[in-house]
Amino acid sequence: MNCLVTGGTGFIGGALVHRLVKEGHKVRVLDNDLRGTKERLHDVFTEIELVQADIRDREAVENACKGIDCVWHLAFLNGTEFFYSKPDLVLDIGVKGMVNIIDGCIKAGVKKLILASSSEVYQTPPVVPTDEYAPLSIPDPLNPRYSYAAGKIISEIMAINYGRKYFEKVIIFRPHNVYGPAMGWEHVIPQFALRMRKLCQESSEAKIKFPIQGTGKETRAFVFIEDFIDGLILLMDKGEHLGIYHIGTMEELTIEDVAIEIGKYFGRGVTVVAGELAKGGTLRRCPDISKIKKLGYQPGYKFSDGLPVTVKWYDENSNLFGRKNI
Ligand SMILES: NC(=O)c1ccc[n+]([C@@H]2O[C@H](COP(=O)([O-])OP(=O)(O)OC[C@H]3O[C@@H](n4cnc5c(N)ncnc54)[C@H](O)[C@@H]3O)[C@@H](O)[C@H]2O)c1
Repeated sequence: MNCLVTGGTGFIGGALVHRLVKEGHKVRVLDNDLRGTKERLHDVFTEIELVQADIRDREAVENACKGIDCVWHLAFLNGTEFFYSKPDLVLDIGVKGMVNIIDGCIKAGVKKLILASSSEVYQTPPVVPTDEYAPLSIPDPLNPRYSYAAGKIISEIMAINYGRKYFEKVIIFRPHNVYGPAMGWEHVIPQFALRMRKLCQESSEAKIKFPIQGTGKETRAFVFIEDFIDGLILLMDKGEHLGIYHIGTMEELTIEDVAIEIGKYFGRGVTVVAGELAKGGTLRRCPDISKIKKLGYQPGYKFSDGLPVTVKWYDENSNLFGRKNI
């Protein structure tokens, strides 16, 4: 297939592009490197077409959609700290980007659209583990954090309703805490890894006091990037039209567990020191992944397998912090 990956120089996009190329697809990437970097794709440069453009540039998106069979729309402003600090930009990219993608696909006759949504669309899910039928919610429009979830909800509703009329296949995936080497800096694992590294350098204590946001009893389930990409490819092949799917694992861990595991990498014990939870942060999150499992999905990495590989990358590349998008 001829595939367009928006957000293709980002963490997930970069891994997806590699896999699509490996499986013999022709890939065009559209990204403005706001958060991604084309260095992620250096080893496949000769095999792909790279379009450096803003997803808000209508003409560039229209051109990028020409001759494409399947659009993977991933371009979005990710990273929790930006939801609070740049909510208008999050929506500008999210909403204008989605409008341009839909229009570009219709104009070019693209029949397949695969959209990245998020677990954030549930905010505080009523049931954990949460399946895809839980209601989507914006608990407080005045909280800037929900700019991201609002952008994703708008994108989903557009994909579904335009999808019925103009597309043969629209698939929506909701990632739940994807992690791996070079995943960016504005996420819990990289931030913990860098802080833990610094504290371990500054102290020789066997047990490190580690300040965190919240009590540490908040939970998340993390999925390693390799497993995640397996899930994406499975959806491209077997996902149903207008289907919505979680991709994640059901290994629910506390944030304290995460800190302790990262401490283990550095050979130290950890005592978490509770702090204030960011307004709008969710206490518990874990996806029910039964729906994608029925298609054959089975994540292979346990957290204890994927975490050391990830922390090692941040340990060895801490000098890149603040200088690079990866
Ligand atoms: N990583 C996760 O755990 C996670 C969880 C939920 C949802 N998602 C969604 O999955 C997708 C990929 O996430 P990621 O972790 O790879 O994030 P990422 O930030 O690494 O990738 C997003 C990409 O979009 C690009 N982008 C941003 N604004 C753009 C613009 N105006 N024009 C063109 N490109 C632009 C960035 O440069 C970046 O390369 C995003 O839609 C994200 O919201 C990710």
